[in-house]
Amino acid sequence: MPEQIYKTMGQQFDRRSWAEPWKIKMVEPITMKTGEQRVRAMQEAGYNTFLLKSEDVYIDLLTDSGTSAMSDRQWAGMMMGDEAYAGSRNFYNLEEAVREYYGYKYLIPTHQGRGAEHLISQVCIEKGQYVPGNMYFTTTRLHQELAGGTFVDIIIDEAHDTQTQHPFKGNVDLAKLEKLIKEKGAQNIAYVSIAGTVNMAGGQPMSMQNVRDCKALCSKHGIKLFLDATRMVENALFIKEREEGYADKTIAQILIEFCNYTDGAWMSSKKDHLVNIGGWLAVNDEAIFEKLRNMVIIYEGLHTYGGMAGRDMEALARGIKECVNEDHIRSRVGQVRYLGELLVNWGIPIMQPIGGHAIFVDAARFYPHIPQHQFPAQTLAAQLYLDSGIRSMERGVVSSGRDPKTGDHRYPKLELTRLTIPRRVYTQAHMDIVAEAVKAVFDHRDETRGLKMVFEPQYLRFFQARFEPL
Ligand code: F0G
Repeated sequence: MPEQIYKTMGQQFDRRSWAEPWKIKMVEPITMKTGEQRVRAMQEAGYNTFLLKSEDVYIDLLTDSGTSAMSDRQWAGMMMGDEAYAGSRNFYNLEEAVREYYGYKYLIPTHQGRGAEHLISQVCIEKGQYVPGNMYFTTTRLHQELAGGTFVDIIIDEAHDTQTQHPFKGNVDLAKLEKLIKEKGAQNIAYVSIAGTVNMAGGQPMSMQNVRDCKALCSKHGIKLFLDATRMVENALFIKEREEGYADKTIAQILIEFCNYTDGAWMSSKKDHLVNIGGWLAVNDEAIFEKLRNMVIIYEGLHTYGGMAGRDMEALARGIKECVNEDHIRSRVGQVRYLGELLVNWGIPIMQPIGGHAIFVDAARFYPHIPQHQFPAQTLAAQLYLDSGIRSMERGVVSSGRDPKTGDHRYPKLELTRLTIPRRVYTQAHMDIVAEAVKAVFDHRDETRGLKMVFEPQYLRFFQARFEPL
């Protein structure tokens, strides 16, 4: 082929097949246990995939949290840890990376996302206040409630329907937010809590226009707007692909513009930032920062490490720079899409459009004969493990927990089983295996029966609850 033609051909994704933009330098062997071993493991785990031993799992899609493969550069950074108790060099590298890529002024390091959620909730919520947000997340809402707040869902209605197509299902319904402010009074709103992407809605993004409008509405009423930035880089890719005016912007430009509309953010770095542990909280308001800085030393560690080792902070600072790389983020989300499209082609009901970090199988449609109180999504997670040692997670009535006032199950509109894809860990071939397993379980759906809960812990019950087959 003449060289001229090569020059005009696309760099990576628009030519022929798609491939992971890395090669493998170190491997961790995995094997599938026998059918008999899988049955025993599932019984011992009380039909809860959180209680399985990792060594009994073949392909682990429990979560994308802390399960990423770090790069050679991040590992090199681990060797550069400055383990001083105070003022570690790595903290300043982290602070610089957060300022450069997220734009916030003040940084508080924390051991992971929920550490940051705890601090922001305690500092910014007064007892009896409301915290509107674009759908709940388990730990986020619990920390808001423990601080005396009441979470109010203000996501657009489309987010509660797995079949509606909408490019930004994570958007805030501004009319819902305005109505809440009118009804309760601006002084009774602690802050508005938004997430990009929205985990429980299937990894659905929020648009730039929506955050801009949210900011305008909040400013009008003197209310702060805080962002859960855990998967914001994935959100930035969706803005680039779907929102007018962003196709030619870089992921880094989109990320910082989005954050500029908010007053601060908390972060579970175990996701976008490609590290196994870590997180942070960042704000622009100096008075809030002073309170947080005082509080972090009680619960997490000194304000220059917040529960992380120096080496963890270095790997995290480097992860921030890597995760906005265009090839990386396109292949990360591309892999999720690849799996989703295989399932859609086989008529398996999944949350649509396909989100950023996971495939959410619509368990209510998958098992229409299993009522919600018999835990269809939990059942599907158990069946997938039994079929081929693949570990997934329930995101339905078990995750939703009980209403603190009435004590009843909270029945969410979405009853989903999440197949969460770790970053840079599995290949397309693994995705093929997963798709075939879901298909095999789907083919036997009519013979499958639900579960009953036989043990239930008080908080975040999905982690430790136990079940028996009906
Ligand atoms: N916010 C979002 C959107 C999350 O997805 C998570 C964690 C957190 C906050 C809490 O962060 O785990 O570092 O304390 N999500 C994990 C998951 C657990 O599997 O989706 P953390």
